[in-house]
This record gives sequence, C-alpha cells and structure tokens, in this order.
Amino acid sequence: MRRNHCIGFIFLSLTVWSVVTYFLFLQRPLGTRFSEREAAVQQRLKELEQGVRQQSADSEQLVRQLQRTVHQRQQLAVADAVKRRVEDAEADQLTDEEKLQQEKVRQLRARAGQRLAGGAPVLAVLVFACNRVTVSKCLDQLLRYRPSAQQFPIVVSQDCAHQPTAGAIAAYGDRVFHIQQPDQSEIVVLPKEKKFKGYYKISRHYGWALNQTFFNFNFDTVIIVEDDLDVSPDLFEYFLGTYALLQRDPTLWCVSAWNDNGKVGLVDEGAPEMLHRTDFFPGLGWMLRRAVWEELAPKWPAAYWDDWIRQPEQRRGRACIRPELSRTRTFGKVGVSNGHFYEKHLKFIKLNEKFVPFTQMNLTYLLKDNYDQQFVKWVYESPVVTYQELKSGSVAHEGPVRIPYHTNDMYKRTAKMLGLMDDFRSGVPRTGYRGVVSFMYKGRRVFLAPNANWKGYDPGWS
Ligand code: UD1
Ligand code: MN
Repeated sequence: MRRNHCIGFIFLSLTVWSVVTYFLFLQRPLGTRFSEREAAVQQRLKELEQGVRQQSADSEQLVRQLQRTVHQRQQLAVADAVKRRVEDAEADQLTDEEKLQQEKVRQLRARAGQRLAGGAPVLAVLVFACNRVTVSKCLDQLLRYRPSAQQFPIVVSQDCAHQPTAGAIAAYGDRVFHIQQPDQSEIVVLPKEKKFKGYYKISRHYGWALNQTFFNFNFDTVIIVEDDLDVSPDLFEYFLGTYALLQRDPTLWCVSAWNDNGKVGLVDEGAPEMLHRTDFFPGLGWMLRRAVWEELAPKWPAAYWDDWIRQPEQRRGRACIRPELSRTRTFGKVGVSNGHFYEKHLKFIKLNEKFVPFTQMNLTYLLKDNYDQQFVKWVYESPVVTYQELKSGSVAHEGPVRIPYHTNDMYKRTAKMLGLMDDFRSGVPRTGYRGVVSFMYKGRRVFLAPNANWKGYDPGWS
C-alpha cells in the first residue's frame, strides 16, 4: 500500500508541475508587437506545449509500468508462499529414508562446492557395487589410502538392491555416501542378447550414477572405481598428480590407473613413476571430468559402455594417461563377463606397491606436444629385431628395440607369442599409442610398432 501511495504522489507531482509550467508560459507578457517575433514566440509556445504533453504522457506510462511491477512482485510473493507451504507439506510426508537421502544430497553438494586450501581440487570417488559383499575389500583399501576425506568424498552407488551388499556398505556409516540405483525394472533384450543382460544393467547403472554425481551432486571431476578392484597405496596421489594434465590438455579425456599389459615380466618394476599416453581407453579405475560426461551423457548406450566409449565417434582422437605399473587390480573372477580374460590375463596384473609422489613431480612431458615428439623419436630410432632374435637373446644391442607389424594377423600372432593381450577395440590394440604397443621383455623395452608413416587406426581390425 505504501508503494501505491508513493506512486500516486509521484504522478500527482509530475502532473501539477506540468500544468503550472504550461500556464506560466501562457500568461507571460509578450512585450513586443513585431509580428515576426510574435510568430516565433507562438511557435516556441507550441513546442513547449507539445513538450509538456509528451512529458505528461511519459509520466503516465512510467506510473503504469511501476504499477505493473508492484503487481508482479505481489504475485510472486504469493507464489513463493504457496510453494513453501507445498514443500513443507511434502517434507512432512517424506519417509525417514527419503529425508535421509535428501540430507545426503545436500551434504554431497556442499562437498562438491567446497574450496580447499591453495585451490586444491575436490575429486569424488564413485564406487560401483551390485551384489558382491566383497565391495568391503575395495572400500577398506580406499579408506586406508585416502589422504583426505574432504578432498576425496567416496560415493558408493549400488545397483541390484542386494540386501547383504547394502548391509556391507551401510556398515561404513557416514564414511561413505551410499546411494541406490532406483530403476530395478526388467530390461527387455533380444533373445540372443539374454545372456548379456548384465551388460545392459551395468550401462544403465553407470548412466544414472554419473548423472547423479555430475548433475545432481555437482562434482567437477570423478574417479570411477568398480567394487572388485584392489588399489595401490598411491592411487589418490596418482590422480591428484595427473589432474592438471587432464585440465590442461584437450587431447586427453581420461586418466586411468590400469595397464592392460601390466603383467609381471611385461612391466618395468623398477620404474613405478613411469607414465604413458594411450589411445586405448583402459577403464578400471579412471578419472573423468564433467565436460566429457556432458558430451557422452546424451548418447549413453544401453549396453557395453566400455567398448562403445572406445569407438571413434566417442573417442575423437583423444588419449588417456596410463601407468607403467597398474594402480588397480581386479579380484572379480566371478562377475558379468564371468572370468572371460581373468584366468589368462587379469589375475597376473602386477599392482604397484611403491608410493610415488606424483604431485611433487613435473609431468608436463605427458602433454601431447612434448610427448609425441619424444615418443616417435624413441620408437623409430630403436633398431628393428625379430621376435625370434629377441626370444633367443641374440640381440647384441642394449636398450630398446622395435618389432614391426604390418597387418592385423601379424600383430595378433606376435602379441600372443609375447604374452600381450592380442585383441583390438575399434581397431586400437590394448595400450596402443599411434599404433605402437610399448612393454618390457626380458628386462628390455620393446615396441611392437607399425611403419613410421602410419596413417591411423583401421576400425576393421579386430
Ligand atoms: C566388464 C569390465 C568392467 C565394465 C563392464 C561393462 C573388466 C575387468 N571389467 O565387467 O570394467 O564396466 O565390463 O561392460 O574388463 N554391476 C552393476 N549392475 C549389475 C552388475 C554389475 O552395477 O547388474 C557393477 C558391478 O558392481 C561392477 C561393475 O558393474 O562394479 C562391473 O561388473 P562385473 O560383474 O565386475 O563385470 P565385468 O565382467 O568385470
Ligand atoms: Mn569386474
């Protein structure tokens, strides 16, 4: 009401002022009889009169505008009050479980928005769980090695509504944030896909949990861990140290803790600090930033997310950082792929045990411009040898050597003999960078490499 008075007053004052001005001009003595001057004065008067009318119209418009704003404000205030009452009523109807969940979201958002000393980043750790109580083995290690609860909030996202597993996670209390994938509906698949239904469930769970982490809890960067992973003591240090690379180099789209060819004998155990770039997305403990998720989320696939992400349409020429010595190892012999690679490869992966202070190190050699030049030089200046020469120990030269390959079959045959993983995904061999697979053999660095004039991957190679 006070506001209405005020507006009225402004309007009245403007009108009175306009009228007084108008009459003052009308009654002023003209003082001369020269008709030219009179005409000029008449003209001036007319203009003034017009001016006054215009002013009056403008004031009216202003007043109308002010009235509209006041009205809108009042309406908004009413709407707010109604909304608040509805929310209060809803909150009263929430179950304790739902209230708890709301509180968790609130806490997670607060964590995500936290500023740490020196501008250090907050990295959420997202652990995927389903129906294996052994998730506790993974969580115990994460909690043991985590340097800061503030900096690395752990979210355990559980699919499958498996009670014993839920219990195992709940036992950690508020040391982890336990969330549950709500959609447990049956997924309809073609009959021939029936036995692969697990891959559909995993993909649905990944899509949901990553959306929650980035878009609901608002984290900027996430470290993704699966419930059957052992982790190395310097896992957090590794991700923290490589975080700046991921921020800075747009040709990188992930940092992974995994070396696909990380078996004992194939790695340089004396070089735990050694890191590489790879065109092959390794997964299995990896760091992802929001911008990449924003790109993938709208087209996230119904199944086989890891092979999908490796397709050229998704990868778009980008690489990941991977360690020489794995910072994760899987103990999940029983799982969706049912030990497909487990007996042959996965169980032999060497888990790094030595703590490397990555955050204290200069890792800029991994930026594309620095790395590629050095890498190409290193690989193609190494002398060519055959697998037989290498195996029989008849290579006189010390230092790195190169075994060339030219075809899909040739690669597979050689890789198999060397004990490497021999498969391709979208034409990329595991750990490959610019077509080159780098590993150790009998204590020596070896490159299984295409020609120096290599033109890119052939997605037809499988
Ligand atoms: C393999 C990959 C895994 C990838 C998956 C998707 C290896 C060693 N593992 O799964 O990295 O994510 O393919 O293609 O290469 N899970 C659910 N819901 C389910 C079943 C499982 O969320 O219905 C979760 C599990 O808790 C686990 C993850 O999905 O964290 C992978 O499941 P797992 O059973 O370990 O399958 P893999 O064969 O290892
Ligand atoms: Mn697994």
